[in-house]
Amino acid sequence: MAAQAGKLVVVGAGAVGSSVAYAALIRGSAREVVLYDIDQAKVEAEVLDLAHGTQFTGASSITGGTDLALAAGADIVVITAGAKQRPGQTRLELAGTNARILENLMPRLTEQAPEAVYVLVTNPCDVLTVIAQRISGLPAGRVFASGTVLDTSRLRWLLGERIGVSRSSVHAYIVGEHGDTEFPLWACATIGGVPLRDWRADDGSLAFTPESLEALAHNVRTAAYRVIEGKGATNYAIGLSAARIVEAVLGREDAVLPVSSVLSGQYGLHGVALSLPSVVGAGGVRRVLEVPMDDGELARLGRSAEALRASAQSLGY
Ligand code: 2OP
Repeated sequence: MAAQAGKLVVVGAGAVGSSVAYAALIRGSAREVVLYDIDQAKVEAEVLDLAHGTQFTGASSITGGTDLALAAGADIVVITAGAKQRPGQTRLELAGTNARILENLMPRLTEQAPEAVYVLVTNPCDVLTVIAQRISGLPAGRVFASGTVLDTSRLRWLLGERIGVSRSSVHAYIVGEHGDTEFPLWACATIGGVPLRDWRADDGSLAFTPESLEALAHNVRTAAYRVIEGKGATNYAIGLSAARIVEAVLGREDAVLPVSSVLSGQYGLHGVALSLPSVVGAGGVRRVLEVPMDDGELARLGRSAEALRASAQSLGY
């Protein structure tokens, strides 16, 4: 399998970072995959374990270590370093700890890879995107977060299972904070052109009520808590989500993905990063789409923005 040309550097060799590298190798997201961590034993072991399987993956190479010079010449950098949620902990509660890690990392990374696209996965990824963009001074399109790409994938899986349609044919988005204030855009959700709210079960009855849709949204919003409760972290789905984003950038796809970038007036919002369907291609986010929202959705977008702005301001950003 031909791998997409380009150098991917994954910062952080924990469960998430090593899963990003693993997914990228399997999918051929980048020709060169580099894993960085401050823990030498850990990063060397992860690189070895990944390398041992490369007979079965594409042409991608995997290297890594503790020297940040490994990031030199990166085309895209995925940042996963930082503390992870403990059971029951919210993502926003990680802001202080992970902001400090990012403040140390970002200048050193942009020195090694001034031309790279930066993707924040570390939580709270929306708040950290504002910080990373402010620290680096890079254009907003080049510093963004995986955001609700993962949550949207959870929603599409749930809907696909519920109505018996391939997930890839479910066009529905989760937007806003990658966190407790995220919400689905039901107004523009369709299955093969049929509005989701008009979808009928085989017996002709409407498949969804407002209550069942809210239950689905709650299921997605709380999914990470359930996984973390059971296994201590989430890693596979976020690894695949990040690999998909890498492909859209390195492959210059101009694919629409609900990533999180600092807004510049969309829906009247400035200086806050949250997820909206965006065109992702060469150089990162090329355009943030202003999809139609009903009044309820606009109100929820505002609440998401306020929660994120308050968190960033509490850190001085
Ligand atoms: C997730 O949603 C924890 O943000 C991570 O899986």
